[in-house]
Amino acid sequence: MNCCPVTLVLLLLVIGNVIAAEKKPHIIYILCDDVGWNDVSYHGNDQIPTPNIDALAYSGVILHKHYVQPICTPSRAALMTGKYPSNIGIQGVPIGGAQPKALPLDIKILPQYLKELGYRTSLVGKWHLGFYKKEYTPLERGFDSFFGYYNGLIDYYNHIYDDPIPTFTETCRGTKRGINWNFNGEHLYGLDLHRNETPVWDMAGKYATDMFTDEAVNQIENHDTNTPLFLYLAHLACHAGNWGQNLQAPNELVNSKFNYIIDPNRRVYAAMMSKLDESVGRVVAALKKKDMLQNSIIVFLSDNGAPTILSSQWQTPGSNYPLRGVKVTQWEGAVRTPAILWSPLLKHNSHISHQLMHITDWFPTLLSAAGLDSKQLSAMKVDGVDQWKSLIYNTASVRNKMPVELDELRNIYAVRRGNWKLVQGNSLLGFYDGYSGDNGENTTSPVYNVKGIMESDAGRAINPLRAMPNEKALLSVRQQVTIKCPPQNNPTPCDTFTNDRPCIFNIAEDPCERNDLSLQRPDILNRMKELLEEYRESLVPDSYPPYIPAQANPRKFNNTWEPWMA
Ligand SMILES: *[C@@H]1O[C@H](CO)[C@@H](O)[C@H](O)[C@H]1NC(C)=O
Ligand SMILES: *[C@@H]1O[C@H](CO)[C@@H](O)[C@H](O)[C@H]1NC(C)=O
Repeated sequence: MNCCPVTLVLLLLVIGNVIAAEKKPHIIYILCDDVGWNDVSYHGNDQIPTPNIDALAYSGVILHKHYVQPICTPSRAALMTGKYPSNIGIQGVPIGGAQPKALPLDIKILPQYLKELGYRTSLVGKWHLGFYKKEYTPLERGFDSFFGYYNGLIDYYNHIYDDPIPTFTETCRGTKRGINWNFNGEHLYGLDLHRNETPVWDMAGKYATDMFTDEAVNQIENHDTNTPLFLYLAHLACHAGNWGQNLQAPNELVNSKFNYIIDPNRRVYAAMMSKLDESVGRVVAALKKKDMLQNSIIVFLSDNGAPTILSSQWQTPGSNYPLRGVKVTQWEGAVRTPAILWSPLLKHNSHISHQLMHITDWFPTLLSAAGLDSKQLSAMKVDGVDQWKSLIYNTASVRNKMPVELDELRNIYAVRRGNWKLVQGNSLLGFYDGYSGDNGENTTSPVYNVKGIMESDAGRAINPLRAMPNEKALLSVRQQVTIKCPPQNNPTPCDTFTNDRPCIFNIAEDPCERNDLSLQRPDILNRMKELLEEYRESLVPDSYPPYIPAQANPRKFNNTWEPWMA
């Protein structure tokens, strides 16, 4: 007698589960490298048209107050763990190829959780979270497949990584002395391109951005759509390549499209950026063709600002204009980068999010989108906060403070609360604390082509899943996310080099950090210092282990970068 209803209930439960499993959204996380605030055209610069990225921005949500870490390794660690890098000892300078340092194994990371939730997990592109032992490499850390490189960069064509063993030399500025990096010593060279764990030699000559895009598109085309996909597409672009040839893009593109840019280096950079934009279009189009787009979450983000004047091989002519500072510093130009969330799951039509968001927030946010409930999330004790509901319903941010940078070895710090930011210490004797980067004004750039956005690969694929605003509304969105430095009446510039004391800024009124208010607002200064102390309490020191070039040398492994310690 009871048999029937029970069976029915069971059956419904089973069906319910199948439906729930089917509904998990595909997550396509496009992380680009060293792209500055002013390198995407939706931020108001006509110089380098990025129609595909702009299509995502205008039909998705522009994350206008999104913060990353100022350097590759810490940003990626924050994304993978949901923890502030300074809480797990992975803050500071990037991991060197010959350095025995990696993301600690006792922390379960994002792809591991997503795999448990039924996702197929794939990393295409850059890892840079350590590989000196096999157990630190992507396949051992929750990725079902890996096609990419272990280190911070490769050559765009031959896929070799040149690892300079840094030495530290004393430098002076005025009467002050400080330590500077020096890369004139030994260099190690080896191929750094792997399919799973096998070195890939036969792709030499293939432009990295195309190579990673082809791989991503292939994976989408061959994906079994009954399974949710987590595709982490971590592009090389627009990071510099190796020493001596750091800017690489197909010549014909540089010469055919960007002659109007005066600086020849910026011209090559524009082509690199253009290839990245094309990649975004191809990936979105592939999702559409495979019928996955309507149930996808796409994130587009840069891991840190551009290294516009960094005196090393990794300098690029990217631009953080009008924000202050460059990659590696704790200024806005280093930590506030282009960031977009696109998904048909968004339940509102607003195109700009003013919520404070930190890169650690993606960890609980994406797991929440993938169906993990709040109890399970809070049991994880991550530093990131779940922003999923506030993003899909466009409600108030659940975050109002964050550590921006805590690096005890370089002695630079920054924290934010509400509209306020505290900045303390300086990178490399303060040489990089000023304003730099192309403002895009010295050119006869083409007129911003709104129609080109609608007609880009991404624009066509998106339509009609998420409506793009009409031309007038679109240009108004663009204007709202273009940062202008408002005039400051008698501003007090912050010079952490000369003054040796922290500065505070009201970022809402002064996004360009020109007016230090620490003398006018000692009350706020004190509260911000307290906040910094709070964050410092849980700091785990950066171990910065010495390099072991003799052991790591790719020559020992048929000239490839391989895990080099048993
Ligand atoms: C841009 O224009 C200004 C003023 O005309 C000039 O001083 C500067 O050198 C130009 N910059 C470039 C990169 O051409
Ligand atoms: C060793 O490297 C060469 C390229 O220098 C490559 O052609 C060859 O396949 C590699 N051997 C093995 C066993 O991987």
